[in-house]
Amino acid sequence: MIEVINVTKTFADKLALDQVSLQVKGQSIFGLIGPDGAGKTTLFRVICGLLRADSGQVLLDGGTASRLSKGELGYMPQRFSLYGDLTVMENINFFGSLYGLSHNLILQRAGEILDITGLAPFKKRLAHQLSGGMKQKLSLSCSLLTRPKILILDEPTYGVDPDSRKEFWKILYQLNHEGMTVLLSTPYMDEAELCHQLAFINQGQLLALDTPGHLKERLLHQVLEVRTGVKDPYFFNNIPGVLYSSFYGYKHRLIVENIESTSSLIAQLAKPQVSESFSLEEVEPSMEDLFVYLTEIGT
Ligand SMILES: Nc1ncnc2c1ncn2[C@@H]1O[C@H](COP(=O)(O)OP(=O)(O)OP(=O)(O)O)[C@@H](O)[C@H]1O
Ligand SMILES: [Mg+2]
Repeated sequence: MIEVINVTKTFADKLALDQVSLQVKGQSIFGLIGPDGAGKTTLFRVICGLLRADSGQVLLDGGTASRLSKGELGYMPQRFSLYGDLTVMENINFFGSLYGLSHNLILQRAGEILDITGLAPFKKRLAHQLSGGMKQKLSLSCSLLTRPKILILDEPTYGVDPDSRKEFWKILYQLNHEGMTVLLSTPYMDEAELCHQLAFINQGQLLALDTPGHLKERLLHQVLEVRTGVKDPYFFNNIPGVLYSSFYGYKHRLIVENIESTSSLIAQLAKPQVSESFSLEEVEPSMEDLFVYLTEIGT
């Protein structure tokens, strides 16, 4: 279990973490979401013991010592420094020896890990010749070498195509099934939905923590999908009652205060703009709506 208790961290005059407290239960997959600069990486680095908090405490399974060096905690940083001119296996050897593992142990574990991550056929490929998804899998492989009980992954699938992201998640579920606690950040809301628990932070403050399902229930406003020929992304922005609008090329998604009054207003405004089909329907709030709501509108 990871316990973060009242952790505050400042960089010069920037308050990066503001009295953050949370608990990650053993054997869970815990997601951290929040906009750029929210403090996600800073929190992970404090948990790993790579950064010292100004105040507060992090307990890992009840102990205060940093576990990173003992190998009980694996960390995949946001920007991993793979050695492009080393092969997959050479990278693994290099990182294994950094952790102080013997050559034989590295070989034995690399065999298992490369099977899990599907990189076994690419052992001899130079890291810079791997696809984006494979590079991330190699990073993950390196962070697994010590067989950590807790795995911390900072945006591990960023920039990876949807199929590879699915494969990556299968691996995470498998590791979790085998007993590993996984704490990760992600900019992808479909991935956020896959976590057992989800925390949202903004400007260094923890604003919400719950299961993905319960978090979505916090969105007290309604969501409308409007399909029109209107291609202006800002068309619905200043309509009274519309709290937020986003444009997906073929539909507008609106968070609205009062569905009845706003719907008729929208219909009035949007219909004359289009000769072809117009539709407007209330839809279930998504995790992305919640993210926008917490980031842009307030709690
Ligand atoms: N070493 C540092 N020196 C100064 N400021 C820093 C440092 N590291 C982070 N910050 C600042 O602290 C705040 C939190 O940064 P952090 O990297 O933790 O955010 P993040 O949520 O990981 O963002 P992103 O989604 O872009 O990765 C930001 O304002 C950032 O500029
Ligand atoms: Mg970050």
